[in-house]
Amino acid sequence: MNNSEESRSLPTPSSGPRSTGTVALRWHGASLELLDQRLLPAEEHWITLEGASGVAQCIQDMVVRGAPAIGISAAYGVALAARHAGGGDWKTEIKEAIRELSTSRPTAVNLFWALQRMERVFDGCGVLSDAQTRLANEAVAIHQEDLAANLAMADHALEAMGLSADLENAAPISVLTHCNTGALATGGYGTALGVIRRLHENGLLTKVYADETRPWLQGSRLSAWELVRDGIPVTLNADGAAAAILAAGEVRWVIVGADRITANGDVANKIGTYSLAVLARYHNVGFMVVAPSSTVDMSLQSGADIPIEEREGTEVREIRGIPLAPEGVPVFNPVFDVTPASLIDLIVTEKGVVRNPGVKGMHALFG
Ligand code: MRU
Repeated sequence: MNNSEESRSLPTPSSGPRSTGTVALRWHGASLELLDQRLLPAEEHWITLEGASGVAQCIQDMVVRGAPAIGISAAYGVALAARHAGGGDWKTEIKEAIRELSTSRPTAVNLFWALQRMERVFDGCGVLSDAQTRLANEAVAIHQEDLAANLAMADHALEAMGLSADLENAAPISVLTHCNTGALATGGYGTALGVIRRLHENGLLTKVYADETRPWLQGSRLSAWELVRDGIPVTLNADGAAAAILAAGEVRWVIVGADRITANGDVANKIGTYSLAVLARYHNVGFMVVAPSSTVDMSLQSGADIPIEEREGTEVREIRGIPLAPEGVPVFNPVFDVTPASLIDLIVTEKGVVRNPGVKGMHALFG
């Protein structure tokens, strides 16, 4: 493995005032390392991959998860396919890698967006050595751009919340979030969690409530872990406690990420997001979606068109092999739901903010 040469060109979220020491993936040119998110917070174990099939399997098995991180990993998977192509029919090998990666998970459009970007670069390559260089560069660019988008979204969000004008005198607020949208789910920093990070950096965060996010527990296993590591005040709550927390009146914003946003402003995100949006509207709490433009899918008219992934019943029936329900009891386990645009106050992207999203606002920004 060559650790030194490519690390130089990677984003550096772990330096500077906007620091987070957490990363989900490390690129080394001939290999990709993924932090095995299935084992957190108990164990920090890295898996080294040298081929696209391994990357596709890791996406499917949730070693790496979170819409932007899935797209970035898939892009590196294509770069690995080029790097290790047999030299014979290398074009067919790379095409097959793209096809295999595209079947790993269905809902987050970032996966297909990243693969399309890689495919466009691949289509312009006549010789393997050119494809190797250009595909690796493109994957690194996708990674770097995602980090930059997260930092821009945090700026836009604070402005949209009316906090930027007088940062010094603005009063701190509490917020609630769902799933994990942090450095682990992205190229670094985070989307919704990036906004929360920025609030904290500016002394504007009293605390963040983190839904534990049943059944996979992204909130307790990943978000709470990231936030504790970075010294950001977090209180973990069972998903069912969110109503009582919002009713108590302390929380000003519910801030979540997205896996796919359609042309009318509907948002697919982790299962349980829709119920939070209903609760937020009932309790007069702001509801904000934070996602890079790579999550926007203007080819779909509404959330009804989004393919919603259903995963194994064992994810609900047991935890790490320990039964939580009668053996074999039927389970319904959709891992995303769709929040209608009408329940959303703000969609924040690096390109700007859509307020009270609908077809008009989405087309104005993403035409
Ligand atoms: O099943 P997951 O863990 O991949 O689901 C993740 C989410 O739903 C996130 O909220 C979304 O991908 C945004 S991550 C910045």
